[in-house]
Amino acid sequence: MARKIFIAGNWKMNKTAAEAKALCEELKASCAQFGDKVEIAVCPTFTSLTTAVEVLKGSNIKVGAQNIHWADNGAFTGEISGAMLQEIGVEYVIIGHSERRQYFGETDETVNKRIMAALKYNLKPIVCIGETLEERENGTTNAVLDKQIKGAFAGVSADDMLKITVAYEPVWAIGTGKTATPEMAQETHEFIRKTLTDLYGAEVAEKITVQYGGSMKDSNSKELTAQKDIDGGLIGGAALKADSFTALIANTL
Ligand code: PGA
Repeated sequence: MARKIFIAGNWKMNKTAAEAKALCEELKASCAQFGDKVEIAVCPTFTSLTTAVEVLKGSNIKVGAQNIHWADNGAFTGEISGAMLQEIGVEYVIIGHSERRQYFGETDETVNKRIMAALKYNLKPIVCIGETLEERENGTTNAVLDKQIKGAFAGVSADDMLKITVAYEPVWAIGTGKTATPEMAQETHEFIRKTLTDLYGAEVAEKITVQYGGSMKDSNSKELTAQKDIDGGLIGGAALKADSFTALIANTL
């Protein structure tokens, strides 16, 4: 069955609210041409979420956050809850990005708790997994991904799994300009889908969107998304300008 291409922009810690507003306005105009042929989302920082939701209302671009805490509320300085995100009209939330794992102590266990919180508040998780360069060179990529998948999705039902997007982001390809070759990425995506098949059965696994992330840009988005098991991308650098993000999407269609 054909899965719809899903391209999400991860703006990371970039763009003030004023800059985010300007970029959303540009994207609203430039992405209208795609209609509903492709699923599109942008994930700005917390301070720009309300603006992004307002500007993009009625457009074909959805809004996502970059993190969510697992508690409903409480003494968690610096964190944000599912209720807070849901209230302002956010639809997606990125969970377990490698930068959060690397710099902020995110583990498979906390990823799992954040996924549960997102589902509770009807937010759709975009769950990031991926191996480091050392792990790729050691030949442990599949073992690492297997552990990340089983840890992240422990206790997640098949029904809930259908609300989740998996983003495979080899850490060595993020922001480095080094992209996995389409063949290499496909091989890993195939392994991810096989692991999901073992856990949830083929019918569910075939429906799950698995994005690639790591230096995806307009010049490689076509060949990457042409691969059987690559269903879109989570885009960092190329998502920060309307022309590069729009061209990247256009090339996937
Ligand atoms: P990049 O980032 O496209 O800049 O490599 C991707 C990501 O980290 O989500």
